[in-house]
Amino acid sequence: MNVVKTIEAVRTMRWQNPSATWGLVPTMGYLHEGHISLVRQARAENDFVAATIYVNPTQFAPTEDLSSYPRDLTRDLALLEEAGADLVFTPNDALMYPHGFQSYVTVDEVTAVLEGASRPTHFRGVTTIVAKLFNIVQPTRAYFGQKDFQQTVVIRRMIADLNINLQMIVCPTVREADGLALSSRNTYLTPPQREAATVLSRALKHGLTLLNAGERSGDVLHQEMTAIITAESLAQLDYLSVAHPHTLAELAQVEDMALLSMAVFVGKTRLIDNMPWPSLTAVYGEA
Ligand code: PAJ
Repeated sequence: MNVVKTIEAVRTMRWQNPSATWGLVPTMGYLHEGHISLVRQARAENDFVAATIYVNPTQFAPTEDLSSYPRDLTRDLALLEEAGADLVFTPNDALMYPHGFQSYVTVDEVTAVLEGASRPTHFRGVTTIVAKLFNIVQPTRAYFGQKDFQQTVVIRRMIADLNINLQMIVCPTVREADGLALSSRNTYLTPPQREAATVLSRALKHGLTLLNAGERSGDVLHQEMTAIITAESLAQLDYLSVAHPHTLAELAQVEDMALLSMAVFVGKTRLIDNMPWPSLTAVYGEA
């Protein structure tokens, strides 16, 4: 596995054999089984796998956890090596945002809601860095987690609108045994908060159960899921949504598909989770 810090080194390795297929897994590091599941799928579907580790400052608001975001490069590299990555790109800020940098990618409507409403500058940072990583690596396929569902909608839109020549693959959310979605931010939780954090998946599962039993009212789904969050004293709801998984528009009435999603503060830690209905495959089709 080659660990490189320059764009030239990435391009040299990428173009050694122009007909080889490459899978790209962009990350911010502090890797867990969710990230590694993306690397494994990329490994299975491509000749070579590139991962990137970069805590991208432009997707954090000034009030957010950029400086305290957890980092452990040695451990990350060991996990990537074990999962079969061939190339790891670990750029620094001076390389990604050199003096004079002033070009950004913005996606309009699908960034205005949900995470975008709570974090107005977040997606501009994500699309800008992801577009740069796509241009640097020029992968055949790029792998993203369902965990950040809106991020996949936004990046999918950018790929289509800007005619970016790659296939995007969305991989299912990896969870702890008690349902909590794996996240680098889970390390911020104290033991009682960690227990309370199961409230997100419990509420979402209840929503799916209602949908499977025939409930179609957006209001009823909202109320039922909100009640579960409210009952957990350590949790504070940021937003809860019953939306169409493609447009992210709120649904008064669910028809063929829905995305249940939420952001919840547990203490100072903001957790997000989602469940698509009837399934991820139904919403996004076979990869
Ligand atoms: P990061 O939060 O490090 O996540 C990297 C990738 O891992 C994302 O595609 C994310 O959806 C996926 N992931 C995280 N937790 C997961 C889980 N429990 N199950 C499955 N996949 C999971 O998302 C980012 O970084 C950044 O915004 C990035 C795309 C790298 C741009 O900076």
